[in-house]
Amino acid sequence: MRLTVITSNEGKMKEYAQALSVLGIEVVQCRIPYTEIQADTLEEVVLNGIEQLTAERDSFIIDDSGLFIKKLNGFPGVYSAYVMKTLGNEGILKLMDGVENREANFCCCIGCKLGGKEPFTVSAACPGVILRHPIGKGGFGFDPIFSHDGTRSFAEIDTTEKNSISHRGLAIAKLVEVLKGRREL
Ligand code: IMP
Repeated sequence: MRLTVITSNEGKMKEYAQALSVLGIEVVQCRIPYTEIQADTLEEVVLNGIEQLTAERDSFIIDDSGLFIKKLNGFPGVYSAYVMKTLGNEGILKLMDGVENREANFCCCIGCKLGGKEPFTVSAACPGVILRHPIGKGGFGFDPIFSHDGTRSFAEIDTTEKNSISHRGLAIAKLVEVLKGRREL
């Protein structure tokens, strides 16, 4: 099977390629721009994205993710892309200065549209903590400041390990289960 991932994020693409290629699924990147609407949930953003992209492509998946920090009442959450562009990791660390409870959830919602069939979404989360300093050179986005085990950041682990525990890796596993259930795989 071949799956088209519509994204301009190379970091996400690398994770899709790793997770799906081991299952024999060919992954193709497609960079069609679309608007991520301001909404309360990642799922709403994804469903709206699917609506926009259906005019352009027949079959594809898209991914909207966010970092939800407990002490910041879930911020940046659905605003993660904007906050990364404006404040970056240093800005998040400043907001967390002196905050003892550093719990956060990384969440991922994948939307899948296959031909004329009804689109669907799958979601998963990875609990962890916001580190006190950025660590590591790998990964992308918030990876240097997020740790699932409280010690190593996502930027210090390789793609295979990240996929085995991350929000995206777990959501991809759910996607694969749904596709198998529908006999698409
Ligand atoms: P979006 O899903 O592209 O809207 O992502 C929102 C923001 O979160 C962007 O700045 C991404 O770089 C960042 N992001 C999404 N997924 C991850 C991840 O797995 N690790 C680190 N940052 C991420």
